[in-house]
Amino acid sequence: MEYALITGATSGIGKEFAFALGEKGINLILTGRRKDKLEEIRKNLENKYGILVQLVIGEFSDLEVIDEVLNIAKEKKIMYLINNVGYGNKLKFFEETFEENLKMVNVHIESLLKIIYFLVPTMTNGYIINVSSLASFLPTKYNHMYVSTKIFISNFTRCLSYELKDKNIKVKCLCPGFVETDFHREMDVSFKSKYTFMKPKKVIKYTMKNLENNKVILIPGVLNKVVYLFFKIAPSILTDYILSNQSKL
Ligand SMILES: NC(=O)c1ccc[n+]([C@@H]2O[C@H](COP(=O)([O-])OP(=O)(O)OC[C@H]3O[C@@H](n4cnc5c(N)ncnc54)[C@H](OP(=O)(O)O)[C@@H]3O)[C@@H](O)[C@H]2O)c1
Repeated sequence: MEYALITGATSGIGKEFAFALGEKGINLILTGRRKDKLEEIRKNLENKYGILVQLVIGEFSDLEVIDEVLNIAKEKKIMYLINNVGYGNKLKFFEETFEENLKMVNVHIESLLKIIYFLVPTMTNGYIINVSSLASFLPTKYNHMYVSTKIFISNFTRCLSYELKDKNIKVKCLCPGFVETDFHREMDVSFKSKYTFMKPKKVIKYTMKNLENNKVILIPGVLNKVVYLFFKIAPSILTDYILSNQSKL
């Protein structure tokens, strides 16, 4: 029986992946902290698609929770590993406590590395999708820990794709721009109306369509692609100018 492990599946991108893979008859291991929401998602998926859904509820900066995820996943034939868990932070490094800064490293990087290191050797074939962000490629003087941990994910995923290229495992780094999810629930409406938000369904449709090709970095949406390419070739004098004139989102 084939399984997908999706971290951060309570809402947004992770939840949408769960429904897209459930529809294909793939059994699921889902993680998150909001127990009631996850239980409801489990019920919906099981009733709709007749699949098995297992939950791991817990805080991802706690390594015991990651061990619990691994213990369950290692017993299964994992076809899809989707490292999606993530959250935002708008503060600068010194505006935040040291512990909060470190927590983002634990949740975004340490958990992802541990899951990949101990789970991927048990996979014979399938897909790894690490969720990073378009923001990881853009100049910014805010959200230090967010963009820095996400660029680690983008670069690490690129390296991993080379290391695994002779195995039957496709490695992808999904880098969305703004997506309409719970990620921005703390932000006000004026913020949302200022920027173009994609629906999670569209992001997942694009990702699933690109699973078989050799692209590693996946940027959904035409506008996001233009932004990505622009900053890839923009001279540093221009990015420095943008940085010095940047206001908080
Ligand atoms: N939305 C965007 O604009 C956007 C853009 C680029 C990249 N992304 C990335 O996309 C990924 C998914 O985010 P989303 O937009 O779908 O947001 P979301 O709706 O807020 O979903 C985030 C998921 O991660 C889980 N999570 C967050 N912090 C956690 C922690 N400390 N411990 C355990 N679980 C935790 C949440 O669980 P609970 O809710 O149960 O706590 C939830 O299931 C993230 O990696 C994010 O960085 C999002």
